[in-house]
Amino acid sequence: MKLDYLNITGKSKVFFIGFILLALIGSIDFITGVEISFSVFYLIPISIVTWYSNKNLGLILSVLGTAMWVIADIQDLSRYASPAIPYWNGLVRFSFFTIIVLLIHEIKAFKDNLEEKVKEKTADLLKEINERKKTTDELKNKTEQLSELTKRLQNVREEENARIAREIHDELGQSLTAIKMELMWICKKNSNNPKLVQSLLLISETVDDTIKNVRKISANLRPKLLDQLGFLPAIEWQVKEFSKRTKIKCDLDINGTIELNPFASSALFRIFQESLTNVARHSEASRVKLSLEVKDNNSLEIKIKDNGIGISNGFNSKKTSLGILGMKERAQSLGGILSVAEAPDGGTEVSVRIPINEHLKYD
Ligand SMILES: Nc1ncnc2c1ncn2[C@@H]1O[C@H](COP(=O)(O)OP(=O)(O)OP(=O)(O)O)[C@@H](O)[C@H]1O
Ligand SMILES: [Mg+2]
Repeated sequence: MKLDYLNITGKSKVFFIGFILLALIGSIDFITGVEISFSVFYLIPISIVTWYSNKNLGLILSVLGTAMWVIADIQDLSRYASPAIPYWNGLVRFSFFTIIVLLIHEIKAFKDNLEEKVKEKTADLLKEINERKKTTDELKNKTEQLSELTKRLQNVREEENARIAREIHDELGQSLTAIKMELMWICKKNSNNPKLVQSLLLISETVDDTIKNVRKISANLRPKLLDQLGFLPAIEWQVKEFSKRTKIKCDLDINGTIELNPFASSALFRIFQESLTNVARHSEASRVKLSLEVKDNNSLEIKIKDNGIGISNGFNSKKTSLGILGMKERAQSLGGILSVAEAPDGGTEVSVRIPINEHLKYD
């Protein structure tokens, strides 16, 4: 504590205190006479001054200490064979003090150097940590922006699809219906010309097929049922249609009720569609189990599991496959995750989990 105090009071003050201490020791040495050795006590002020002040002041104190010691010694020259001996002893003692001063100076310099290096390294480390944190934050920001962009793009795509679907349905559908009516009218007018009527009926059949196709394309672009019935009934319809079309048996288990906003319901509907398309195209399955469960009132879990050949063989092998990638992006855009994996008891399982609170439909 006292040394700390010395350190902060400045170098000259330390020297002054060292000098007082040295004078005190020198006086005691003088009073106690030459028989009692005090050599080691002189080292106390010299060491303190060297450590807390500097090497030169330590050396000055060594000179003063040696002088005091010699003065104390020459008081009684009779005990020496030659009067030069106390001066020789003084020189030896000064050398001893000098070595101690130099050693303390070196140790102090080493310690200061070490402290400086530790400080530099700590500063470097802190800088690196800050830079890494900055990079991580930037990366997080970019990922969030990208995810937001994907979400917007999908939204735009859905809106655009819905618009094109409406246009195709309204414009093309109505024009085709008008053509068909016109054909029927010409047929009626030319009932006495069976050849022409037959040709017109053939054209009319083609128009009928085209109308059906237009409806199909329009329905695929934006599932109308989603708007008309809502999410869950649309899923039920989709599953029923799939089963009818493919002869693959489907067990749909819906647990809980949920009304999602158009963006979320479209995205999940597309995930269902792509999963079922994959089952039909790749799985060779005879049965699909689909479950949809609202968990803890805050998340929705969807599972689509088939009993087919499993996914491990073909998965990731085709760079052009976009279905699963698209499903994953859709799940991510809803803040959720989607995984496709081989089920433990065979077949393939698509599993989706999304938080629902931010995707609920508010009227
Ligand atoms: N239910 C499944 N059973 C078995 N294999 C599957 C199943 N679903 C997907 N796969 C495998 O995973 C691959 C990737 O599927 P993904 O839907 O990404 O692409 P795709 O269906 O081949 O092409 P598209 O881009 O038209 O969807 C498929 O080619 C298929 O080999
Ligand atoms: Mg696919």
